[in-house]
Amino acid sequence: MQAEPSADERAAVDELLGAPESAWDGALERSAFDHRVARGGAEVRDDRHLLLPALHALQGAVGWISPGGMNYVCERLTVPPAEAYGVATFYAMFSTEERPSTALHVCDDIACRRAGAQWVTDRLTSDGVGVVHSPCLGLCERAPAMLIQRAGDQGDSAIAPITDEVLDGLIRDGVWGGTGAELGSVPQAGEVRSREALRLLRRAGIVDPSSIDDYRAHGGYEALRLALEHGPEWTLREVTDAKLMGRGGAAFPTGVKWKAVAEQPVHPHYFVCNADESEPGTFKDRVVMEQDPFAVIESLTIAGVTTGCEQGYVYIRGEYPLATERLRHAIEEARRHGFLGEDVMGLGARFDIELRRGAGAYICGEETALFNSLEGKRGEPRNKPPFPVQRGLFGKPTGINNVETLINVLEVLRIGGQAYAAIGTEGSTGPRLFCLSGDVERPGVYEHEHGVTLRQVIEAAGGVRGGATLKAVLLGGAAGGFVGADRLDIALTFEDAREGGYTLGSGVVMLFDASADITDTCLRIARFFRDESCGQCVPCRVGTVRQEEALRRLVQGRTLGSRDDELALLEDVAQVMRDASICGLGQTAANAVRSAIASLGVFGGGAVDTLEGDAVPTRTEEQES
Ligand SMILES: Cc1cc2nc3c(=O)[nH]c(=O)nc-3n(C[C@H](O)[C@H](O)[C@H](O)COP(=O)(O)O)c2cc1C
Ligand code: SF4
Ligand code: FES
Repeated sequence: MQAEPSADERAAVDELLGAPESAWDGALERSAFDHRVARGGAEVRDDRHLLLPALHALQGAVGWISPGGMNYVCERLTVPPAEAYGVATFYAMFSTEERPSTALHVCDDIACRRAGAQWVTDRLTSDGVGVVHSPCLGLCERAPAMLIQRAGDQGDSAIAPITDEVLDGLIRDGVWGGTGAELGSVPQAGEVRSREALRLLRRAGIVDPSSIDDYRAHGGYEALRLALEHGPEWTLREVTDAKLMGRGGAAFPTGVKWKAVAEQPVHPHYFVCNADESEPGTFKDRVVMEQDPFAVIESLTIAGVTTGCEQGYVYIRGEYPLATERLRHAIEEARRHGFLGEDVMGLGARFDIELRRGAGAYICGEETALFNSLEGKRGEPRNKPPFPVQRGLFGKPTGINNVETLINVLEVLRIGGQAYAAIGTEGSTGPRLFCLSGDVERPGVYEHEHGVTLRQVIEAAGGVRGGATLKAVLLGGAAGGFVGADRLDIALTFEDAREGGYTLGSGVVMLFDASADITDTCLRIARFFRDESCGQCVPCRVGTVRQEEALRRLVQGRTLGSRDDELALLEDVAQVMRDASICGLGQTAANAVRSAIASLGVFGGGAVDTLEGDAVPTRTEEQES
């Protein structure tokens, strides 16, 4: 017999999709109409994009996706159950096994390990509390961190830092304190001298993130007004003159991308804000969304109206409850005040935004995987070409930018493209956000102009915690690489990074002092890539597993052959992943390990050539646009 949904499950899905109109889409009774008319084909397939929100509705209502709930969603959206299971099991935040209504996702990723994540897990498990081990939750500046996922009305909340008192409350009384968008996450906001120089973070900690009036009182919606009054050609010229490069990792010129979308003859066009931010060590987009959410909505609106789109999407990672709430509110407020909708600001443009939540999959930050996820499919990257500007979301021309890239556009229009291009260096214009974490005195998001040295970035954050000796810096994230303490004078620009064999990635600057065990960090990074590989292509699916196995053997001293044989094998695997993987995940999965071996000599390194001057794979333009 087919499993049936419970009343709660049915209600949760109906709240999202509306009550079913006929037995064809899940009503309990057949109407006279149903006996005469059959629904199917394109009409029902058009709803497939609602699969992820519907699965979120089930998970949120009862804490797991039961067979009955799944059957009901499949009936409502006309999705074959096997496919829906394929989707549900792809995402870490969905559970198809029954579990308690509250799940504690404790981060055991690199920054939290340095901050004692093991202690948190030990304490909880010894008190009989079940724990789900999680990759980086994007709260590294306040490590150690945990996400509480709750069924029912309360919703999810993040806790960071986890302290003894927090755990006491949690274990004894089931009470927890959520985390607010704290000023502490933007240390420069508290320093008057630095604040005056801030462009991207100028409102952080000052503006009320829930008030559109306060946002406007701090210069909000001036850039959109300019864009609408001067028109798309003017805006495109300014963005192009600014030489604004994407901040999502691929460093693709934003003006070129926008122009390509605007010129596509096929309609509709879509614009997506990539807020999936899941690169370990990265939290800048979260802080921007929490503290200045209207800036994200305003800049996405500018991108949309400039490229001929009427519909935009923000795809936000599922583990960001506060940023999600703030953005949702900002979208509603913008709509209510005429900054979104049929006639934006009364200046004749039509544009609206929908907020969609991811569900725990790093690969969904890759743009084409993100489109598949938005369409209600497994988040597996597509082959390119065709590029998103030609065939992106729903097969239509699509622009996509990272949160930080988009908010730069506000500054471009405020001061003019040419003035913006004068900031930073010739090849890397404008300001840049850096995520400082690990063994650093004042962790948080920092804004600097491109061209700043790594040493200056570290000094601005107060240096190594407690004045300890620095061992290494992880630069750019798990897909980036380690930089030794002897190389702190490298300049942080795209061109210097290309030349010097390092990558800026997503702006991660994670410090490790002399007491840090870099082999442990490498093993965690290798596990991360093994877990997050979507499994679609062999070099990455097998290579990430082989990489982790070889590292484990090296750590345990149980090498197959000599240590040099293992290092040579690792290098071989790295090469294959880099050359033959479909997407940037596989192509960059060996970066950090290779750099640790070559420049820090971990695992008895030195057996491979130094990486300096060697091209470190980054998410290149060709791969990403
Ligand atoms: C594995 C992988 C993960 C990615 N994750 C993100 C992400 O979380 N956020 C993001 O903006 N871009 C991410 N990207 C890059 C996107 O594919 C895309 O290049 C970017 O959203 C384009 O925006 P930009 O031009 O503003 O940089 C990722 C790429 C790969 C290969
Ligand atoms: S490289 Fe890895 S993540 Fe990318 S498509 Fe292949 S298996 Fe999936
Ligand atoms: S929140 Fe734990 S490593 Fe980032």
